Amino acid sequence: MDLSVFIPFKRNRKKHWNRVYEKNLPNEVGWYQDYPKMSMKLIAATGVGAAASIIDIGGGASKLPGILLDQGYKRLTVLDISGKSIERSKIQLAEDSNRITWIEADVTKYDFKEKYDVWHDRAVFHFLTAVEDRKGYINSLNQALKLNGHLIIGTFGPDAPPKCSGLSVVRYEPETLHNELGNNFNLAETFFEDHVTPSGVRQKFIFCRFIKRT
Ligand SMILES: C[S@@+](CC[C@H](N)C(=O)[O-])C[C@H]1O[C@@H](n2cnc3c(N)ncnc32)[C@H](O)[C@@H]1O
Repeated sequence: MDLSVFIPFKRNRKKHWNRVYEKNLPNEVGWYQDYPKMSMKLIAATGVGAAASIIDIGGGASKLPGILLDQGYKRLTVLDISGKSIERSKIQLAEDSNRITWIEADVTKYDFKEKYDVWHDRAVFHFLTAVEDRKGYINSLNQALKLNGHLIIGTFGPDAPPKCSGLSVVRYEPETLHNELGNNFNLAETFFEDHVTPSGVRQKFIFCRFIKRT
């Protein structure tokens, strides 16, 4: 009997995501993008150079780090709770995976040793439905993002589905996201994007770029 169903979801989070990446190839998951256009646009908008340090939170098996490497960015880190997603990413990137720092950890609890110029998160923060998890995330963010550093965050918007990957999500407007993050962040710009999953479902995302002022 699989007793994991009786374990609170928080402790099962890692298990959930590992299962997702065991069962699906990177281009089969709902959030797959052949080219992460909005993320690339917002990273370019930061104006940071190729030597800037960029961390992709919950990077999964996304193509983003490989594309950033191709564009000359040199100091890339990918953090994900799922070791399986990191394995998938390393396979995709082959030798280039050695040019990236990989961290297998829960962002809400990780004790960051480095500081970054850019913190990028597409479709991770919105899974944090518990107040203490959001507090943990924001604590990590404030610990790891440099002063005047850029926070790029993509979440489900108000008209998006209430669930993703079978899990409940919090849907944000730019203002409610800003309120959640705190007033030490200045909202620089906001975009809306319709993501169409490989099975044809439309998901309405918001993308915001914030600058950390204190
Ligand atoms: C919907 S996927 C998005 C993946 C990637 N950002 C993209 O856009 O393709 C969510 C990712 O966040 C990771 N994740 C979920 N909760 C996490 C947590 N608490 N800490 C770190 N990673 C987490 C999952 O393993 C998964 O790879």
